[in-house]
Parts: sequence; C-alpha cells; structure tokens
Amino acid sequence: MMMRLAVLSVLPLAAVISASPAPTSNTGDSLSSFTLPNINTNYKSRAAAIDVKRKGWLYGGYPIGGAFYPTGDLANETISKQQAQWFPVVVEHAKLIAEESIAALAGIIATGNFSTLDDYTKTYVNQWNMSLPRGPMLGMLTNYTDDRLFSMMRLSATPYKIQRVQRHDKLLFPVVNAPSITGGLSLRDLQTRGRLFSTDFSHLKVPKSDLPPSGKYGAGCQAYFYVDQSGDFLPLAVKPIVKGREKSALVYTPEDEPADWLLAKMLLNQNDGYHSTWAHVGQSHSVAEITFLAAIRSLSNDHPVMGILNRNLSGESADFERNYYRSEFKKRGLIDSSFGPKLKSFPFYEDTSVVTEAVRDFMETFINSYYPNDRAVTHDIELQAWQRETAAARVYDFPRINTRQAIADVLTHQVYLSVIVSNVMSTNGIHLNSMSLPFAPAGFLQPIPSKKGLTEKDLMSFMPTPEGAVWQVSTYVVGHRPMWRDTNETISHLFDDETFLAKTNPKTRAAATKFKDTMMNFSVEVRARTFDEEGLNRGMPFLWDALDPNYAPYWGVI
Ligand SMILES: *[C@@H]1O[C@H](CO)[C@@H](O)[C@H](O)[C@H]1NC(C)=O
Ligand SMILES: *[C@@H]1O[C@H](CO)[C@@H](O)[C@H](O)[C@H]1NC(C)=O
Ligand SMILES: *[C@@H]1O[C@H](CO)[C@@H](O)[C@H](O)[C@H]1NC(C)=O
Ligand SMILES: *[C@@H]1O[C@H](CO)[C@@H](O)[C@H](O)[C@H]1NC(C)=O
Ligand SMILES: *[C@@H]1O[C@H](CO)[C@@H](O)[C@H](O)[C@H]1NC(C)=O
Ligand SMILES: *[C@@H]1O[C@H](CO)[C@@H](O)[C@H](O)[C@H]1NC(C)=O
Repeated sequence: MMMRLAVLSVLPLAAVISASPAPTSNTGDSLSSFTLPNINTNYKSRAAAIDVKRKGWLYGGYPIGGAFYPTGDLANETISKQQAQWFPVVVEHAKLIAEESIAALAGIIATGNFSTLDDYTKTYVNQWNMSLPRGPMLGMLTNYTDDRLFSMMRLSATPYKIQRVQRHDKLLFPVVNAPSITGGLSLRDLQTRGRLFSTDFSHLKVPKSDLPPSGKYGAGCQAYFYVDQSGDFLPLAVKPIVKGREKSALVYTPEDEPADWLLAKMLLNQNDGYHSTWAHVGQSHSVAEITFLAAIRSLSNDHPVMGILNRNLSGESADFERNYYRSEFKKRGLIDSSFGPKLKSFPFYEDTSVVTEAVRDFMETFINSYYPNDRAVTHDIELQAWQRETAAARVYDFPRINTRQAIADVLTHQVYLSVIVSNVMSTNGIHLNSMSLPFAPAGFLQPIPSKKGLTEKDLMSFMPTPEGAVWQVSTYVVGHRPMWRDTNETISHLFDDETFLAKTNPKTRAAATKFKDTMMNFSVEVRARTFDEEGLNRGMPFLWDALDPNYAPYWGVI
C-alpha cells in the first residue's frame, strides 16, 4: 500500500513542494480483505486500532503555511520513511538539473547568446536531455506569436482563472477599438451575447521587491478574450497594471505593433505561471492531504475507503465540494452555460473528463461492491466519523456522506486534485507551456513601459539573459518526472497495486482492469494527435498532452 504526503524540500534552485511514495508500515494491516465496520460483532479491537492512529497522527503546521500537516509519532515515522525513499530521487534529479544547466548555459553562449526571440529555442534544443528531454510542448517554440496559442492556453494549460463575463457583471476596463478587432461588436455587445471572457490578476500588481526571485519587473494583468463569429476563442485586450501607475495603465490589443502586443501577452503569461506555481499547493496538495489526514484519524486500515485513500493520496486550502471540476467550470461559465455560445474546443475539459470520469466509474463500482444501498453508507460509523473529523481538520465544504454517489464523488475528487490539478499546474504543465521561453519569461529586465512603440530589438532588452533563461528552466523542471514516462508511476496505473487489489473483491478488480485499459487507449489517442492542415490541434497551434495517462504521474509530485 502506498501513500504520499507533500513535504517541503529546499532545493538549490527553488523552494518547492515535493512528495513521494513509500510503503506504510504502521498502518497495521490485519485482515486479508477490506471490511466495513460492523458494530454488532466485536468492534473493540478495530476501534482500539483507530484510537492508536488518532494518537499518532495529529494536526500540525503546514510547511509553507495553510492547512494542517500531519505530526505525531506515527505520522513522523511514516513521513521519514517516505523521505528516505523520495529524497534520493529528488537529490538525483536536482544534481542532473545542475549538470545540465551548466551545459545549457555553455551551449547558449557558444552560439552567441540571444539576439532574437527565436534564439530562445537554443535554451532547449539538444539540452536537458535527461531532465526535460522532450522540451516544451510541440508548437510552443515555433507558434508563439499566433494569437490562438495565447488564447487557447487559457482553455488548456492555464484554465483556472478564465471566466465568462455574465450579463450583469461590471466590466474590468474599456476597449475602445473592440469593434474593429471583432468585426463590429463592442465590449458591451460581446457581453450581452455571452461571447466575452475575462481573467483578472490585478492583485499581482506588486512592487518589484515582492516579485518572484526570477524577475525584476512584472505587472498584474486584466484581460479579455472573446468568441468570434466563427466560434474561435481569441484574445481581445490585455491591461498590465503596475502599482502606483494604475491610472495610466495602457490597454494593449492585437491591433498594436507586434512587439507591444507580445509584451502584453508575455505579462499575462507571467501572471498565469506564477498563479499555477503557488495555487497548485492550495488547490491540490493541501485539500487532498488534509482530507486524507482526517481519514487516517477516523477509518480503520481494514476499511475499503482507507484502502483507496492510501493508494490515492499524497495547507490555506481550497473548498472541497464547490471545486468538483464540473461545478467549478460551470460556475465560471465555461461548460453547460445557458448564456452565450458553447466553447468550440475546450481541451483541458475534454481530457480531464476522460480521465476523471474513468476514475468515477471505478469508484462507483468499488463503492457499490461494498455498500448494498445508501442506508449502508449512512450506517457506516467510520465513514460518518471521517465526515465529522473533516470539520476538526478544517477541510472546507466537505459534503455530507449520505449516499453511495456522495462517497464515490468524494473519492473521485481526491484523485482529480492530485492527478489532474497537480499535473496541469505543475508536474507535466508549467515548464512545458505557461512557463516556457520565449513566450513566458518569468520576469522582465526592464520596467513596464508607460507608452507603446517597442521594436523587437527593444523587447529583447526585457528578456532574460542566458543565465536567466537557464535559471528559469532549471527552477521549473524540478517538478517534472520525465523518467516516469511509460512506467507504473503514471495515471494508467492508479489502481494497479496487487496489495490493494488483493484485499478488495472481484468487481473492484474488474473495474481496475477496465480503468487501466481505458487509460491505455486514451494514451494512444493523445499520442496520435497531430496538427491539421491549418497547423492546429483542437483549434490550438500547440499539442497539449499534459494528461497523457502514460506520462502524467498518478500522484501529486510537486
Ligand atoms: C514530529 O515531527 C515534528 C516536526 O519535525 C516535531 O515538531 C514533532 O515534535 C515530532 N513529534 C513527535 C511525536 O515525534
Ligand atoms: C554572452 O553571455 C555571457 C553570459 O551572460 C556573457 O559573458 C558574454 O559576454 C555574452 N556574449 C556576447 C557576445 O554578448
Ligand atoms: C543531447 O542529445 C542530443 C541528441 O542525442 C545530442 O546531440 C546532444 O549533444 C546532447 N546534449 C548534451 C548536453 O549532452
Ligand atoms: C513498478 O515498476 C518497477 C520497475 O519496473 C518495478 O520494480 C516495481 O515492482 C513495479 N511496481 C509495481 C507495484 O508493480
Ligand atoms: C481499448 O481499445 C481496444 C482496441 O480499440 C478496444 O477493443 C477496447 O475495447 C478498448 N478498451 C476500453 C476499456 O475502452
Ligand atoms: C505550429 O507548429 C507546428 C510544428 O512546429 C507546425 O507544424 C504548425 O503548422 C504550426 N501551426 C501554425 C498555426 O503555425
């Protein structure tokens, strides 16, 4: 049985959250099969074993603030056993990255540094052979000036901030030239037709001393996107806001000179990259882990749900039920919207649905195989104790567990958090798209301009030096696990654990086999994706494959 907890590890180049596998020796597996608690038979020894866990797994501080983190003798023992396993892997990876950084920097300098934006491909080509062997996602290096790459990133790589502007929402800022961009529609027209989308990072307009260490200058951007007549999802405007200069903030649009517009797009990329870096902790690790800790303190290790959580788990943490992916994306008007046109292509949602609904299929079969009806769920004293314990654990918005569907949904969400959110925002995402060069420099070397009129040469003076470029790659690849591609660490193998399956039942084992087949097939589909005759894949000029189930790890790595 595997279990993973995120642990803060300070690496040479970045402070990151990491986590890793380890057998749990102290879970005291006693039976050969999972069983539900039955208060009519002798429950004493089972209750006593739970009590031991309650004393050994306590609520402590999270390494970087936020939700509780496990402490206590049993927790510490498990954490240090896990560290003994994952830390060498992280050290090894960091050593490799350090060596490859030296080669990458030498390579860039040997070819004369960066004179043009396209020169930034030198940062990747024939470099990082071990730590980033496939480079950024296909298209990121060649198609970054295409506006559809910029807009469609919001519906794939960075889908967590964009929302449809509702009929009565207050507009963020005016765009006077909107009609000439959209073929006649003003901002208001787009809004009333449900075709306007926005994203708002104005809270990131911090003075430079508060910026991430990678960059010296940045801005907090607000931006609009829209669905045009043909259904394409396109950028309309970006407004970078600098603290102290709010009133004179410029609004950039696709009608600006290419270098000005590119600068604005890069500034929004910085915001999204920064958001992913930190939000994945609060939105993924913290929520899944604190829920897990509450379960350790409430469920017997012989309980089937504890079995699945052990397999599946690895802080301020986000709400639980309100962030079930379908409701969360619906709330932002991106799916099932009764207002405005349906998105023609929504790659994040399409891939996430395949994986998450396959997980839900498994969970439903698993739960139904143990609980004959909803009553059995409400009568399970351990499950109900877990529900109550989530309050003490400060899991926000944990649902009542009074139906079989409710518990299957909880378990599905746990996997979604660790597998999907974490891969898209971190492990298989950020360094491959929303933080890849040249389109997404982590910071700029020049102050944000107060007027337009940049040339490409001017823009180059904002861009990272060779050292800065190498710093950026090496910082973000810390969370990448290319060595796990096609191994049993990937999503396809989520339920592929003999120890776990042996304690379940034939229906659960059949569901696990089906899940694996479904994922294997999906991987084939993802890998077969190509650019069509227009140079697009699902409307995007890049190939987004963060959720290839034979590449993405099945647990939250970083
Ligand atoms: C567990 O580890 C934490 C953090 O290192 C420490 O503060 C705490 O005292 C430890 N508790 C026990 C019971 O060992
Ligand atoms: C290239 O960059 C390196 C490292 O920043 C610097 O030492 C060197 O002078 C640069 N060379 C040129 C030709 O600009
Ligand atoms: C990476 O691999 C390529 C292709 O095999 C090779 O040409 C290149 O020299 C390697 N790069 C380094 C830094 O070893
Ligand atoms: C996963 O694969 C590794 C390497 O092939 C193997 O040593 C290990 O036993 C496998 N683990 C499981 C649970 O199958
Ligand atoms: C996987 O693909 C194969 C070949 O197309 C098909 O026969 C099989 O039914 C698929 N399995 C699942 C679980 O979808
Ligand atoms: C995007 O890049 C790929 C590979 O470099 C290329 O085949 C495709 O035509 C490009 N698409 C566009 C729209 O330029």
